[in-house]
Amino acid sequence: MPEQSKSHVTVLGLGRMGAPIASAFLDAGHPVTVWNRTAAKADTLVARGAIRATTTAEAVEAGPLVIAPLLDHAAVRQALGPTAALLQGRTVVNLANSTPDHARDLAAWAAGHGADYLDGAMMALPETVATPEGFFLYSGSQRAFTRYRRELDVMAPAHYFGTDPGSAEIHDLALLGTGYAALTGFLHAAAVLDPVGTAPEAFAPLAARWLHGMAEFLPELAREAGESAYAGGVSTVDLNRAGVDSLIQLSLTSGIATDVHEPLKALLDKRSADGHGQDSFSSVFELLRPRDTAEHGTQSAGRPGDGHR
Ligand SMILES: NC(=O)c1ccc[n+]([C@@H]2O[C@H](COP(=O)([O-])OP(=O)(O)OC[C@H]3O[C@@H](n4cnc5c(N)ncnc54)[C@H](OP(=O)(O)O)[C@@H]3O)[C@@H](O)[C@H]2O)c1
Repeated sequence: MPEQSKSHVTVLGLGRMGAPIASAFLDAGHPVTVWNRTAAKADTLVARGAIRATTTAEAVEAGPLVIAPLLDHAAVRQALGPTAALLQGRTVVNLANSTPDHARDLAAWAAGHGADYLDGAMMALPETVATPEGFFLYSGSQRAFTRYRRELDVMAPAHYFGTDPGSAEIHDLALLGTGYAALTGFLHAAAVLDPVGTAPEAFAPLAARWLHGMAEFLPELAREAGESAYAGGVSTVDLNRAGVDSLIQLSLTSGIATDVHEPLKALLDKRSADGHGQDSFSSVFELLRPRDTAEHGTQSAGRPGDGHR
C-alpha cells in the first residue's frame, strides 16, 4: 500500500529499465502512476497498485515528479511534447541515453515550460536497479536533485555532476567508453583462445581477475595523466608497444582481426616516434586530450567528477 508521506512518482516508459524502476517505487511505498506506449506492459504494475495513465498528459498531471526511462531523446520529446502546458512547477528526470547536447536542449525546453530538469544516466542493468550494484548519474537542476534525492536513491545511489544538464551524459559516455574497451578486448581474447580450445566461459574468471587488478591500477594511471607526470613509470610506452605488437602478430598468424588493437598500437608508435618511448603508458593521454584545452573548456570546467557527490 502506498504510504501517505511518500511523494507521488510518475514513470513514463516501462521497458527493460522502466519496469523495474516503477516496481522499485511501489516496493518503497510510493504512489506510482505509470504510462507506456504499449499499454499492456503496465498490467503487472497496475495489478500491484500502480495507477495506469492512458496519455502522457494524464501521467504528468498525476504528480510533481516525472521520471522518463524511455528509449532515447526522440522518444522523450515525443512523450513529453503534449504535456508542455502541464509542466509548470514539476520536475522532469530524463533517464534516456542521449548526447550532452540533446540533454541541454531538453533542459532548455523544460525550463521554457517552467519545469525543473534533471538529466540522468543509468549505470545499471535491469536486474541491478534498486540494488547496491547499480548507480545513476545526474546533472541539471541542483534544486531538483536536492528536493528529490530520496526518491532518486530508490532507483539507485544517486551521484550529482553539476548544473550543466549535459554533464551526466558526458560522464555516462566516459564510463561506457571505458567498459567498451575492456569488453571488446575480452571478445578479441576469446577469439585468440578459440583455436587452442579454451572456451570463453573458462577464460572469463581469469579475465575478471585480471580486470580487477587493472582497476586497482586506475588511481595511479589517473595521477600520472592528471599531473602529466610520465617519468619513472614501471610500464613504459615501449614495453607496451612490444606487448601490443606481439598481440597483433598472434592475431595475424591465427587469422584473427587486428582491428581492436591497431588503434592503440598507432598511439604507442607515435609516442615512441616522438621520443617518449620511456615515458609511462599513461602518456598516451597526451595524444588523446584536446590540443587547445581553452577552446574545449576542459580546464575552466574543472576536472571530471569534481562536483561529484
Ligand atoms: N537495458 C539496459 O541494460 C540499459 C542499461 C542502462 C541504461 N539503459 C538505457 O535506458 C534507456 C531505456 O532502455 P531499455 O533497455 O529500458 O529500453 P527498452 O526495453 O527498449 O524500452 C524502451 C521504452 O521506450 C519506449 N519507447 C520507445 N520509443 C518510443 C516512442 N517513440 N514514444 C514513446 N515511447 C517510446 C518503449 O515503449 P514500448 O514498450 O511501447 O516499445 C519502452 O517503454 C535507454 O536509453 C538505454 O540506453 C538501458
